[in-house]
Amino acid sequence: MTETAGTGALPVEGVPAARVLDEIRALRAGDRPTHGGRLFAYVYDPGVAGLDELAQAAYAESAHVNGLDPTAFPSLLTMENALVGAAARLLGGGPGTSAPDVVGSVTSGGTESLILAVKAARDARPDLAEPRIVVPVSGHAAFAKAAHYLRVALDPVPVDPVTLRPAVADVAAAIRPETVLVVASAPSYAHGVIDPVAEIAAVAAAAGVRCHVDACFGGWALPWLRRLGAPVPPFDFAVPGVTSISADLHKYAYAPKGVSVLLHRDPGLRAPQFFAYADWPGYTMVNPVIASTRSGGPIAAAYATLRHLGEDGYLRLAAVTRDAVAGLADAVRAVDGLRLLAEPESTVVCFTADDPALDLFVLVDELTARGWHTQPQLAYAGLPASVHLTVTAAVAPRVAEFGPALAEAAAAARAAGPVVLPPELLALAGSLTPEALTPDLIAGLAAGLGLGGGAAPDRMAAVNTLLQAAPVRLRERLLVEFVGLLQRPTW
Ligand SMILES: Cc1ncc(COP(=O)(O)O)c(C=O)c1O
Repeated sequence: MTETAGTGALPVEGVPAARVLDEIRALRAGDRPTHGGRLFAYVYDPGVAGLDELAQAAYAESAHVNGLDPTAFPSLLTMENALVGAAARLLGGGPGTSAPDVVGSVTSGGTESLILAVKAARDARPDLAEPRIVVPVSGHAAFAKAAHYLRVALDPVPVDPVTLRPAVADVAAAIRPETVLVVASAPSYAHGVIDPVAEIAAVAAAAGVRCHVDACFGGWALPWLRRLGAPVPPFDFAVPGVTSISADLHKYAYAPKGVSVLLHRDPGLRAPQFFAYADWPGYTMVNPVIASTRSGGPIAAAYATLRHLGEDGYLRLAAVTRDAVAGLADAVRAVDGLRLLAEPESTVVCFTADDPALDLFVLVDELTARGWHTQPQLAYAGLPASVHLTVTAAVAPRVAEFGPALAEAAAAARAAGPVVLPPELLALAGSLTPEALTPDLIAGLAAGLGLGGGAAPDRMAAVNTLLQAAPVRLRERLLVEFVGLLQRPTW
């Protein structure tokens, strides 16, 4: 491969612009389709003509603006404050509400919002040597990441295998004197189920503890669904005791990636989120969020997206999405052996297989082979393996095709039969400790599963079956090792 013909990032001689773009487009051809309603995770597509072009133009306008210093770039401060105001108003805060003093920040995504919610809660209690957070197991993994990064202990609360919600009594029992934050999801990513926010916030408030509502996924969907008449329970600042809420604009606000909002009920609650430093000879530094230098691109693109779609646009998109959810749920109900894990109450359809002859992981591969990209979820703590569908407005025109495709994929999965891994491999996965994994063992496992070589295999059922056979800590270690094999520099 010569340097200019390859994809090396630093060729000896620069490559003309048009060709560089062609190269990127050629690389992108191997990706899952971000548009068109056939990818049920990772992407949020409203299917609105012209919106991408608007967002891209807005992004380009502010791409080189630096959010490091809002006094140098007041355009960004203006747009950021407008985004926070819009999110606060949508989520029960602002003038004339019971939460008139809501403030917030724009972050790079849900994970950053959650890390900062945990940081604010932790740093509000400097008296505690070992701060703790209470999180239902259905809470997003980013809370565990926050706990890990911030050295905060995580107290998980189980969820009921039928309702997929935590029992409020269990949440209350998990709160200790060292607890700095209690979490509820609206809804959970995995199953799309809304936690009993009012009850959870009440037990947190009674204990004098902050309560964060993770509405990263649903914050820009549930309010519209409620306006359309869906029975959405209270989950926002209208609920006493809710102290902070996160809502991702790069999800159901349909903004390009890199933008979420973290709201606090008042400025005092937000203050410990910030980091300021003046004890060095450089510029005085104050960062509301984790990044210091940050591009204005995502903020400008989100601002343009919200202004262009407006409330009427979001209502229309929510109605379309609601109907698509209903259609997909019907498609699942129509296939023998498949069962909805939860009745859809937001924008997620999640199903499992009750019939051992129908292997969900094989079904996912069969759907992929037919151009439908769904997300497998491993069995965990008494909850069965499941398939997750994030439903966005662009799915609506596809619903009629999905039903037959699902039935066909299910028939093909039955015909193929469940994945059978060699018994010794399964036994190894079930008994190995993460510490016992040697580089040779990992290389052998990866080769056997078709991993490595810079790309994931087309069929993932064997990988998922192996991961599922492994205890949680070994799953994590295997994931790290497998992705480590993919992330290798090209020379
Ligand atoms: C409920 C919930 N919280 C947090 C996150 C993390 O968001 P991000 O991937 O933007 O970091 C997600 C992502 O799907 C989510 O669904």
